[in-house]
Amino acid sequence: MSKYAYVHDDTQYKASHRDAEAAEKYLCGLALCSLYLGNCPCVALPPASVQSSVAKYFLRGIPTVSGITIMNKPFAESSEQNKQVILQILQKIFITPGEVLEIGSGTGQHAVHFTQHMPHVMWQPSDCADQIPGMKLWFKEVTHQRIRQPLELDVNRDWPAQCFDYVFTANTLHIVSWPAVQAMFAGVGKVLKSGGLFAQYGPFNYGGQFTSESNARFDVWLKDRDPRSGIRHFEDLELLARQHSMALHSDHEMPVNNRILVWQKI
Ligand SMILES: C[S@@+](CC[C@H](N)C(=O)[O-])C[C@H]1O[C@@H](n2cnc3c(N)ncnc32)[C@H](O)[C@@H]1O
Repeated sequence: MSKYAYVHDDTQYKASHRDAEAAEKYLCGLALCSLYLGNCPCVALPPASVQSSVAKYFLRGIPTVSGITIMNKPFAESSEQNKQVILQILQKIFITPGEVLEIGSGTGQHAVHFTQHMPHVMWQPSDCADQIPGMKLWFKEVTHQRIRQPLELDVNRDWPAQCFDYVFTANTLHIVSWPAVQAMFAGVGKVLKSGGLFAQYGPFNYGGQFTSESNARFDVWLKDRDPRSGIRHFEDLELLARQHSMALHSDHEMPVNNRILVWQKI
C-alpha cells in the first residue's frame, strides 16, 4: 500500500463533532487501528501544534514526521458522515443532466459519493493546489468517467472560462475570509449559467444569531484558529447573491445545525 503524508485540516472534525476532545479521541483510535491492525484505509490527524494532551497521550509511540502522520490517503470523517444527507438534497435540486463545479473539494470524498449516485452529472472538482494530489488518490479508484481532472481553483483568482449548470461547495464559507467569500460569489456569478443553481452546505447564522450553542462554540474555535474565518450570516450572503444576479432558491435544514442554501442565477 502506498504511503501518503498528509496533515489534515482538523476543522472538519470539529465541524462534525463540535467537540475537540471527542474528535481527537476518535482520530487517535483510528490511528491506533491503522498502525496495529493495518486494515484502516487511512488516518487523518490534526497537526501536533493543535493536538490536546488527550491526543498526545493516545498518539504516544505512533510514528510521525514533524507532526505529520503517515497514511495512504487523505480522509475526512465529516465527509463520510454528511455525504448521504447532502446527496439526498442534491438529488432533489440537481435534477436535469449537467456540469457541476465543486469549490473546495478537499479530499474529494464528496465528489466520489455524489457521482456514484447521480450518473446524470459531470463533476468538476477543484481546490487550492495543495489539495489536488490528495483528491487524485480517491479519483484514481473510481471506475466511472464522471469526475473530471481536478482544477486548481483558489476563489481569489484563477476562475475557469467554462460555464456550469450547478456549483456546489461544502464547509468552505466559514473557513475562508470574508473577502474570499465575496470573491466566491463574484466568481460563481460569472461561471453559473442563467437558471443554474449554487448549493452551499455548512452552518449559517440567521437574524444575527447562532442557531445553536454548539455553533457558537464552533465559531469561537474557528476564530481562535484564524480570526478571518467564522460562521457567515444568511442575510449577508443574500445581499452578496443579489449583487451577483442570484436569488434564494431554497434553504434546507440539515443534521447537526447545518443547512444547505441554494441560490439560483437569474
Ligand atoms: C473544511 S474544508 C472542506 C472540504 C470539503 N468540501 C468537505 O466538506 O469535506 C475547506 C476547504 O476549503 C478549501 N479552501 C480554503 N481556501 C480556499 C480558497 N481560497 N479557494 C478555494 N478553496 C479554498 C480548503 O483547501 C479545503 O479543502
